[in-house]
Order: sequence, then C-alpha cells, then structure tokens
Amino acid sequence: MIRFLIPMALFLAIAGGCQPEPTSLTEAEQTLLTRKGQDIVTEVATVLSSALTKSIADGGVGKAAQYCSFIAVPLVDTLAVRHGVDVRRTSNRLRNAKNAPTDREREVLTQYEQQRAQGAQLQPLLEVIDAHTVAYYQPIVVQPLCLQCHGKLGETLPEENYSFIKYLYPNDEAIGYALDDVRGIWSMRMPRQASQNH
Ligand code: HEC
Repeated sequence: MIRFLIPMALFLAIAGGCQPEPTSLTEAEQTLLTRKGQDIVTEVATVLSSALTKSIADGGVGKAAQYCSFIAVPLVDTLAVRHGVDVRRTSNRLRNAKNAPTDREREVLTQYEQQRAQGAQLQPLLEVIDAHTVAYYQPIVVQPLCLQCHGKLGETLPEENYSFIKYLYPNDEAIGYALDDVRGIWSMRMPRQASQNH
C-alpha cells in the first residue's frame, strides 16, 4: 500500500467524515495519481541515470557534464510531453539557476531536508492546484553515481572532474553532498483526470 503525505486540512476533512471540498481528491484519486507520479519519475530517473552512466563510461565526467546540460533537459521534456505532464527537477542548492524553485517548492525541499535530518521516511507529496491539475513532489536522494559530480570536493568529487563543471556552471552550489542526502525534488504538474485512463 502506497503511503503519502496529504495536507492536514484535507486529512481532517476526510478523517472527520466531512464532505470533501469540490477540488479535494478522493482516496482513490490520491492512490492512482501518486502511483502515476511515481511511475513517471521512475521512468525519467532511470533513463537519465543510464544515459549518464553510459556517457561517463564513453567520455568521462567532462563529457557527461555536457551531456547533462545539452541533452538531459530536452530528454526529460520529451518524456513529459509523452505522458502529458510538466516535470522538472529543482533544489535548494542549484547548479543551473534555471532550475530555481518556486516558493512552494522551496518549502517542500526544506521539509524533506528536515525529515531526512530527523531520520524520517520520505514520502511523495500530492497537492490540489485547481479542479483540473495536481502537483506531485518526490524527493531526489543522492546515490553513489551522483557523487562524481555533486560530492565533496577533493574527496568523492575529484578536482579534475569539477573543473569541467565549474567551467559550465561558474555559480554552482550543488556540491558537498553525501550519500542519502536530499539533493532536490522532482516537481510535476499532472492533469487530475489522467487518473482515470492511466
Ligand atoms: C556527470 C556529472 C553529473 C552526474 C553524475 C550527476 N549530475 Fe546532477 N547535474 C549535473 C549537471 C551538469 C547539472 C545541471 C543540469 C542543467 O543545466 O539543468 C545537474 C543538475 C542536477 C539537478 C537539478 C538542480 C540543479 O542543481 O540545477 C539535480 C536535482 C541533480 N543534478 C541531481 C543528480 C542526482 C540525484 C544524480 C545521481 C543520480 C546526479 N545529479 C548525477 C551533473 C551531474
């Protein structure tokens, strides 16, 4: 059974047996939309990380870093179009300023960072935007592969790797991470009715 966080007001409305607001989600919608969000993120993350691994094997981190800037973003966009969703990655510590979080995304990021610091389980988050759209957030956690470009400089992130990255992203803030840190979030907008035909 998939578990998820829901806003407290919505939780109380359901737990209290009240009629849900017109825009609130039924439990069935929450389950389906959370599963749809997880499926899309899994697909996108798998495609990205296998392409990254291949590109590091072919040409080293320098080539892979360029891959990230010129290919990863269009690739994510293509998958998003196919699924009819809007999906992106964001973080509190940015490499590319274009990925800057909105105010709400910043709150979600900070919440996940705090939960991770307390050793809590991180769960996806679903929020109603309006009658037709929901927002889906899922934490991005640091794995061994990521350290080659986001790790601790001179330790897990070799200086020579970093020179390529620093050249491409002079204002980079996205280093110094350790395994299992919250690196960022996937942030997605999905049509609400998509739950019926997924
Ligand atoms: C080969 C180097 C490389 C590896 C390995 C790598 N990244 Fe990145 N990462 C980058 C580059 C370059 C960008 C900037 C992409 C852009 O311009 O949008 C980036 C951007 C990101 C962003 C978007 C937010 C931001 O700071 O701009 C996230 C989130 C992220 N990486 C997470 C990860 C995770 C998680 C892993 C491991 C699964 C990983 N990265 C592995 C190079 C790398």
